[in-house]
Amino acid sequence: MTKKAEIYKCEKCGNTVLVIDSGKGDLSCCDVPMILLEEQSADFKNEKHVPIVEKTDSGIKVTVGSTLHPMTPEHHIVMIAVIDGDSILVHWLNPGDEPVAYFPCQNADVKSIEYCNIHNLWTNKK
Ligand SMILES: [Fe+2]
Repeated sequence: MTKKAEIYKCEKCGNTVLVIDSGKGDLSCCDVPMILLEEQSADFKNEKHVPIVEKTDSGIKVTVGSTLHPMTPEHHIVMIAVIDGDSILVHWLNPGDEPVAYFPCQNADVKSIEYCNIHNLWTNKK
């Protein structure tokens, strides 16, 4: 059974999906069950993965890592999102971009998540 807003990944092909609404079935891809990604918030990779939220004049800025995360084709941040109440705002990134996103959000105390193509899902708040 899935729950709204969970993120699952296929370990064979890399398909990664966000659950829009919950269902009784289990998700599978490439003929294997998809893995529920747990949000990570602290470990030895903390300085390069935990999103940092700052207030700006027009909203908020989210930076991935107190030391900027790499943005190479092999290892990069795929997306940064903020979850503000019932709203999810997503910004997609590409290799070569800065691991930074700006959102028109007035609440700087929001939960932010980011997805690294190698180290999976990270958050500033559990
Ligand atoms: Fe990473």
